[in-house]
Amino acid sequence: METLQESLKKILSQAEEAASGAQDLKKLDEVRVRFLGKSGEVTELLKDLAEVPPAEKPVLGKVINEVKNKVTALLEQKKEALELSASDAPPPGFDPTLPGRTLPVGKLNPLTKVLKDITGIFKEMGFDLAEGPDAETDYYNFLALNFPPDHPARDAQDTFYLSEDLLMRTHTSPIQIRVMQNHKPPFKFIAPGRVYRNEAIDATHHHIFHQVEGFLVDEGIHMGHLKGTLDTFIKRFFGSRVQTRFRPSFFPFTEPSAEMDISCIFCEGKGCRICKQSGWVELLGCGMIDPAVLTNCGVDPEKWTGFAFGMGVERIALFQYDIDDIRLFYQNDLRFLKQF
Ligand code: DAH
Repeated sequence: METLQESLKKILSQAEEAASGAQDLKKLDEVRVRFLGKSGEVTELLKDLAEVPPAEKPVLGKVINEVKNKVTALLEQKKEALELSASDAPPPGFDPTLPGRTLPVGKLNPLTKVLKDITGIFKEMGFDLAEGPDAETDYYNFLALNFPPDHPARDAQDTFYLSEDLLMRTHTSPIQIRVMQNHKPPFKFIAPGRVYRNEAIDATHHHIFHQVEGFLVDEGIHMGHLKGTLDTFIKRFFGSRVQTRFRPSFFPFTEPSAEMDISCIFCEGKGCRICKQSGWVELLGCGMIDPAVLTNCGVDPEKWTGFAFGMGVERIALFQYDIDDIRLFYQNDLRFLKQF
């Protein structure tokens, strides 16, 4: 018959083996019940103590209790280990081999992109950047630009008035005046900005849109410089095969005035839907700065001459990307914006 000492030793090593083999908390609890439960192996031994002669009880009781404490500590240790590894484990249904989810990357609105491209090219050509306020006075928006008070050209601009004298600028040309008042020639500036007109909104009109103004003043400047500058810009922006042509026009602040067309970038001048079969697309207004405007800004027109031009950014973006509705630029529809 094995001695009590021997059976205790056996119980302890069995408990060790069972505890280390338990894969989860449920299995571990089964081990606890098997050894320390109501009729567990260690518990049974303690019950047997009742029948042991009183003289032997203290010694035997001590040994059995030691084993009980060892098994308890063993189970406790294993429980901690199991809990720790459970918190490291991936949640059910998680597959670590699947590729990650790509985060959406923001992009520039096509208008912002075109605006930056235009000003970027002129900056590379040595133009400085100028800006002006969106709310302008009649003087800067009209009078100093040679629109007399009752001039019919004022009607063409459908102005939003804030008060009798204050208005939302209808074009970026007032920046010419502000810069010329504060700078001594020679200079060349590019001036982008938002402009406002009281127009009904449709596929090609909006009451808020963007323009880029450019102007240069120096000695001996003539139309040749204007044409060369704009032709260089167009070839940089649209590509070297694109042609430019200038048609006479009228603006109160330039004399002579012109409108510049470019050969259609889609059909290369052959005629298509986009250029309405003409092969040409009207792109911007320009001209030699009227001597009266120079005089208004304290620049001596006998000594200095200059050219100016102004272009609509929306118009260029619509054309460049073959978009047929200006409203798309402002609707923040991701299906549209993601395409650029
Ligand atoms: N300000 C004009 C407009 O909004 C555009 C323009 C035409 C600007 C000729 C110029 C220019 O600087 O020379 O219609």
